[in-house]
Formats: sequence, structure tokens, C-alpha cells
Amino acid sequence: MTARIAILGAGPSGLAQLRAFETARRSGSKIPQIDCYEKQSDWGGMWNYTWRTGLDAYGEPVHGSMYRYLWSNGPKECLEFADYSFEEHFGRPIPSYPPREVLHDYIMGRVKQSGVRDYIRFNTSVQWVSYSEEDKTFTVTVKDLKKDELYSKEYDYVVVATGHFSTPNVPYFEGFEHFPGRILHAHDFRDACEFKGKNLLLVGSSYSAEDIATQCYKYGAKSITISYRSAALGFDWPENFSERPLLTKVEGKTAHFVDGSTCEVDAIILCTGYQHHFPFLPDELRLETNNRMYPGSLYKGVFFESNPKLIYLGMQDQYYTFNMFDAQAWYARDVMLGRIKLPDSNAMAADIKKWRERESALSDAMDEVDFQAAYVRDLLGETDYPTLDVEGVAEIFKQWLRDKQKDILGYRNLRYRSTITGTLSPAHHTPWMQAMDDSLEAFLSDKPEVSQSKAS
Ligand SMILES: Cc1cc2nc3c(=O)[nH]c(=O)nc-3n(C[C@H](O)[C@H](O)[C@H](O)COP(=O)(O)OP(=O)(O)OC[C@H]3O[C@@H](n4cnc5c(N)ncnc54)[C@H](O)[C@@H]3O)c2cc1C
Ligand SMILES: NC(=O)c1ccc[n+]([C@@H]2O[C@H](COP(=O)([O-])OP(=O)(O)OC[C@H]3O[C@@H](n4cnc5c(N)ncnc54)[C@H](OP(=O)(O)O)[C@@H]3O)[C@@H](O)[C@H]2O)c1
Repeated sequence: MTARIAILGAGPSGLAQLRAFETARRSGSKIPQIDCYEKQSDWGGMWNYTWRTGLDAYGEPVHGSMYRYLWSNGPKECLEFADYSFEEHFGRPIPSYPPREVLHDYIMGRVKQSGVRDYIRFNTSVQWVSYSEEDKTFTVTVKDLKKDELYSKEYDYVVVATGHFSTPNVPYFEGFEHFPGRILHAHDFRDACEFKGKNLLLVGSSYSAEDIATQCYKYGAKSITISYRSAALGFDWPENFSERPLLTKVEGKTAHFVDGSTCEVDAIILCTGYQHHFPFLPDELRLETNNRMYPGSLYKGVFFESNPKLIYLGMQDQYYTFNMFDAQAWYARDVMLGRIKLPDSNAMAADIKKWRERESALSDAMDEVDFQAAYVRDLLGETDYPTLDVEGVAEIFKQWLRDKQKDILGYRNLRYRSTITGTLSPAHHTPWMQAMDDSLEAFLSDKPEVSQSKAS
């Protein structure tokens, strides 16, 4: 009997899985029966921008955490697909740091070309997955949101590709209930212009904090205070920025920090990360992890240890993104097609332990890049995914880390060389701080923008 596969989610990870199977089909292999379930009305996952926050039109939690004016925070050369270069998609080289709409267009270009849309059932949210030990079969129950109808189907494999940057981690701080301004999580942040002229407090010191802080500065926030729990971001910030240790409480508009200092704030954005959240999975099938380089209980970072027919894609903290999802999807495909045999459970446990020990020895971001490069390389070694210069990409990541440290407001003006085409990207026509229009048309146009930064 042909194997039956359910792919949950049509973001970059789910699409990588579809693309992997389609590539095998086109080269003459018989592929399984595949259904991909996507609760949004279109594909692209997180890159499919929505103005909505809270619940969607059907009462489902809104997936999107991206916001207007979001530009890639890493060089595009680091996330380029090995089988579909930026140059191929746009017909010419483009600058290294594109805005969201441009990256969305690129991701979509590859899947449009491969014709995998017919596998996807849109507006269909996964409600529950169970596994029968007796039949060795998963039952996936989904809801057709438009028809408001539940139905179930059986599968031999389930690929969970529902992402992990959508369910916010929202800590409480004393006094929040009386704060006279807006308090929101980064998941609900949509438009920096809302904070023009405001004194802003951001809690958290990772990518969301640094990016939302610089966005709000660019679009005219009056002052920005970043409160960290473990370590300050430590960039060379402009004058109206300050970094403080952890917030202890707010009294009226006054924010208090553990070092005894205070400041007045008009709005608070919690950039405190996300939870891996799988409300459609029972305890025995659910991955439980924080945001880390090597989540436990996943062999090769994808196969659920106690039931390897359950596959998780993209659950790692991410330097590598699109090409890592490809590496995972190609490997998972080959296991599902019987081309790669999984070892016994002892060997899987030993392999997970080895990677976790290696992970615990990492001391900084540079080490993390090398670690993830080694992981991607390990997966690629066993599949026919086109050649990817994983170590070359790691060098670009390291250069990016250094460039960002040197100039947090200017690093997006720099350019890097594609490891796929060998082309050095052109400079963008307008420095990032002055580029207020993040549309695809403005980015691809030859003309510099005339508008000026709203930052004082
Ligand atoms: C604010 C922000 C900015 C980012 N910027 C960058 C960047 O610049 N560069 C970069 O490389 N990466 C960036 N990322 C990381 C980004 O998450 C990945 O690039 C990528 O989107 C992950 O792909 P995914 O398919 O694993 O998950 P997602 O893109 O999150 O897609 C998951 C899909 O599953 C669907 N889904 C979820 N639950 C269900 C359900 N119950 N039923 C049916 N469907 C469901 C969702 O609707 C969604 O379409 C950013 C992330 C965030 C939060
Ligand atoms: N433009 C862009 O491309 C862009 C923009 C934003 C985000 N992103 C992506 O989005 C993903 C998620 O990034 P993220 O920054 O949201 O999450 P994250 O990297 O997981 O960081 C979470 C942050 O929240 C802090 N935190 C958690 N709980 C806290 C608490 N109770 N009190 C105080 N601080 C707390 C953590 O502090 P500790 O360090 O102490 O744990 C950490 O600094 C990343 O992949 C990133 O690349 C990209």
C-alpha cells in the first residue's frame, strides 16, 4: 500500500517537505499520498503578513508575528535555497538585506514553480492527532474553517511544521494591571509608527528586542529603554537608547529596575520570546522544549524519539533557516521513502546525547553558528540535496555578527557574496535608516528614496 503522509503547516518548513517529495517524483520515484493542512488562506507561514492580532476570522489564534517595515535581520546569502538562487528568482542580483515582502516573493517563487499547491488544504486547522499502537497509524482530525466541519483521516507519518514563533511567552511584572499605557507582546506588534514620539520600554534582549527597538527609533520613537534578564545587547546605541537590568515593577508610568534605577515610559513591548506550542498533540507525542539549538528527544533534530514516524521540522533556534529546513525535509523524505534506514532506539538516543553534549559546550554565537553548520552538514551528507557550501554560509553568519556588533543601525547597508552563484550583491539604493518604504517595488527600483529618516 502507498504510504500516507500528513504535513501540518504550509510555511517554509512544510513547503520544504512538499518540495522534497516533488523533486523525487520528478526524477521518477513513486511518492506517497500527501495531504498538507494549513489554517491560513495562503501559504508562506510567518512570511504571510497579517494585520490581524489575537484571533483570526474563524476564532483560531493568529499565527503571524511579523510586522510592517520588517527587513531581514540576516544576510539573504545565508538563507538562500541551494536549488533556487535569488538571482534566478529576480533575474538579477539584489541587495543583501531585503524587506519581508521581497523574501516572501522569493519563497513563493520556488514553490509556485514546483506546482505543489494542489497538495495543500487551506483554511484547514489541525485540531488533534492520535496514534494507534495496534494499527501503527495516526489519525489526524482537522477543521474545514470555511465549512465549520471537522473530519479525520489516517496516516502512516505525520510531519509537524507548524513553527514555534507564534505563541508568546508573556511574563507578568508587578503593577502591569494599573499601567496607564499600552502593554503588548512582540507577537502583536504591527506598526512602529504607533510609537512615534513615545518613551518605549522593551523587555527582553534578543532578536525581537533589537529589531523592534531599531524599527521604533527609525520611525520616530522619543526614547528607547531595553531591559535585559541575562545580558545586555551591548550595541553602540544612539543617544536616546539605554539598556537596564531586569524590570521589577511599574508604578504608574514609572518603570523600576533591579539596579534601583527608574525611568518614565509610555508603552511596554514584551520581547520575551515564544513557546513551542502544539495544542493538537497528546502528551505522549508532544515535543517539549525551550528555544534552543538542539531540542531533546529529536533524532537528527527531526524524528520524535519515542515514535520516529512523527517528524518535527524547524524546531531549532535558528541561524540557518530555509536551507536548514530543506536539509531536514530532504532527510525526512528519504527516511519516509525507505532510502535511509533509522538505527535502533539505543543508537538514536546515543546520537541525541552526543549532540546535546556538544550543545552544552557552546559559549557564544560564533560557536552556535558552527554547531548549526555541523548539524546541517550532517543531514546533507546523506541526501541528494544540491551542493550547499554550509561552511561558506557559516563564515557569512560570523561576518554578519561582527558587522552587527560594529554598527547596529548600519549593518543592513552591507553586502555579501552568494555561495550559490558567486555574485557579490549590489548596494541598496538607500541606506536602511532612510529607507522608509519596505514594498517590493521600492526595494527593486533603481531610484533612491527621497524621504528621510524620522529619527531625530
Ligand atoms: C518576527 C520574526 C521575524 C523573523 N525574521 C526572519 C528573518 O529575517 N530571516 C529568517 O530566515 N527567519 C526569520 N524568522 C524565522 C521564521 O520563523 C522562519 O523564517 C520560518 O518562517 C519558519 O518556518 P516554519 O514553516 O517552520 O514556521 P512558520 O513560518 O511559522 O509556518 C508554520 C505554518 O503552520 C501553520 N499552522 C500552525 N498551526 C496550525 C494548525 N493547528 N493547523 C494548520 N496549520 C497550522 C501556520 O499557519 C503557518 O503557515 C523570523 C521570525 C519571526 C517571529
Ligand atoms: N527582522 C527580523 O528578521 C526579526 C525580528 C524579530 C525576531 N526575529 C526572529 O524571531 C525569532 C525569535 O526571537 P525573539 O527575540 O522573539 O525570541 P528569543 O530569541 O527566544 O529571545 C527571547 C528573549 O526574551 C527574554 N526573556 C524570556 N523570558 C523573560 C522574562 N520572564 N523576563 C525577561 N526576559 C525574558 C530572553 O532572555 P534570556 O536571554 O535571559 O533568556 C531573551 O532575551 C528569532 O528567530 C529571530 O531571528 C527576526
